[in-house]
Amino acid sequence: LIHLLSIEGLPQAVLTHILDTASTFVSVSDRDVKKVPLLRGKSVFNLFFENSTRTRTTFEIAAKRLSADVLNLDIARSSTAKGETLLDTVANLSAMHADMFVVRHSESGAPYLIAQHCAPHVHVVNAGDGRHSHPTQGLLDMYTIRHYKRDFTQLSVAIVGDIVHSRVARSDIHALSILGVPDIRAVGPKTLVPGDLREMGVRVCHDLEEGIKDADVVITLRLQNERMSGALLPSSGEYFQHYGLTEERLALAKPDCIVMHPGPINRGVEIDSRVADGAHSVILPQVSFGIAVRMAVMAILAGNEA
Ligand code: CP
Repeated sequence: LIHLLSIEGLPQAVLTHILDTASTFVSVSDRDVKKVPLLRGKSVFNLFFENSTRTRTTFEIAAKRLSADVLNLDIARSSTAKGETLLDTVANLSAMHADMFVVRHSESGAPYLIAQHCAPHVHVVNAGDGRHSHPTQGLLDMYTIRHYKRDFTQLSVAIVGDIVHSRVARSDIHALSILGVPDIRAVGPKTLVPGDLREMGVRVCHDLEEGIKDADVVITLRLQNERMSGALLPSSGEYFQHYGLTEERLALAKPDCIVMHPGPINRGVEIDSRVADGAHSVILPQVSFGIAVRMAVMAILAGNEA
């Protein structure tokens, strides 16, 4: 693996290897062990052209735990604002001896463009591109599911919400399929759930109660208003009434069901606070697992896995 740009097309053995490697890093990510030297002398550049709280921070923590030097480009203050192209920006950062670019961009495909033009020794990790792909979120979601449920091949997983605009949903669906999950459901209003998911073996449901019935895992997604306009934009009150995850609705899922959300959550829109903070929620453990998973991705790319 030279770059991690998407989960689509990755062999099951590669996904499992990343998850297994992540499990070896959990004690480091939990700070039982302070640091490992696997990326000592390497420079990781975080290039976030779009906002982030969890992904950018956990990549920084993960790189530091691997002993890399980390640079966070402040895009708002960079020369991008003076008209410098993405490729010129990357060429200049490469001249500063970058070894790895972690890239988030609102344009689908931007990390691919960078990967095509950077020096052969440089690795690119997609940290979310447009509505296309968010592979490390998909991987940390799989790590979380495996942690709580162990066996992928018996599971019913419902992904609920704004799927059409969600790079997380796309990465999760590819990962769940590759790992052998037999029952993947996409649940939401017709305007927000693409019908062609059926071609990927996904069951499409427009009724929330039907969609989460007997599910082992419910993944909720926020309305991505920044990618919507006009008729697509539902009012948040109306959306919560039909698709908000409440305790009453969650009672239809399996009694030991876990509730996941990539964040940021919008309380009272796609999820009720009693569910987000309740006994079934693993939303914050997802964030913690993200450190170990991102450590594993960077270590494997750099050829220095544990
Ligand atoms: N899940 C996720 O990508 O969160 P951030 O946008 O805060 O990075």
